[in-house]
Amino acid sequence: MNKDLIQERAKPIPMQTLKEPPLIRLEKNYEMQSVPIVLTRILQLVDNNRASAQRLEKLILHDPSLSARILKLANSAFFSFRYEVKTISHAITLLGLNLVKSLAIGVSVFESFSKGLREEIALISQLWMHSIGVGMMAQEIWLKRGNRAESEFALLCGLLHDLGKILYFKKDAVGYSRLFAREKRDQDPDISALELEHYGVDHATLGALIAKQWRLPPDLAKAVQQHHSSFTQSQLAAAISIADMLVKQTGIGYDGDRKIREDLANMRALLQMSLQEYDSLVVLAESKREEIEVFFQLNP
Ligand SMILES: [Fe+2]
Ligand SMILES: [Fe+2]
Repeated sequence: MNKDLIQERAKPIPMQTLKEPPLIRLEKNYEMQSVPIVLTRILQLVDNNRASAQRLEKLILHDPSLSARILKLANSAFFSFRYEVKTISHAITLLGLNLVKSLAIGVSVFESFSKGLREEIALISQLWMHSIGVGMMAQEIWLKRGNRAESEFALLCGLLHDLGKILYFKKDAVGYSRLFAREKRDQDPDISALELEHYGVDHATLGALIAKQWRLPPDLAKAVQQHHSSFTQSQLAAAISIADMLVKQTGIGYDGDRKIREDLANMRALLQMSLQEYDSLVVLAESKREEIEVFFQLNP
């Protein structure tokens, strides 16, 4: 055997190669690198700290579209405050730093990634509404199981659970839209299997990789990675899965994934959630659908 070839084979495969997905790569000069910078700045803000509230206000004011969205939300039926919320600082006081922070992260990611996309904007807008729905339901599920800060973190995990899909849209808008169309036609839909077939990696794995690259909290990356897994022991991942199903069931937005989990009972068991609680969450999701569709359209 050729000596060089033997040496080549003997070389250990670098860890980096093993971790990276085979077909989609996050190149160094990837044009969306500005997103992590905004995210990093927002994530650096410490919980319930006055200086952080002022810095968050500044960051939001820097982005007119984000400011408008936060104000719109503060004045929406979700919160039904008696007076009109006119300023970002007022919104932060009323909604709380963590909630505004989570929303700012979600809006920034989706808006930055959808810039420049035309035909696909409708699909991304649907994905955004779906993600808002999952975030709201995950928060609701966690409110009964943890404190307020934890439930706001669950909201953030819900907002970003399909992060991998946003990257496919950015990297391969036409191709990924076709996968969505195929998923809609398929008798036995399975977007994760289609992603694996076309890109060599599914959105859960890709989303977790990005989350790690952006240094988002490890628990968030884990929840993103496991939100379709039948073997997860993570309660947070189970909460995201259930929220995902609730939102699909009630038709809030569309995430290109109509597959219904057969192991939903196991996910409920992991969270000690009764069927009665699940049904009451369905009713709640239904009551939120219209508001989400009105308040969370993404504009091209
Ligand atoms: Fe998903
Ligand atoms: Fe989803």
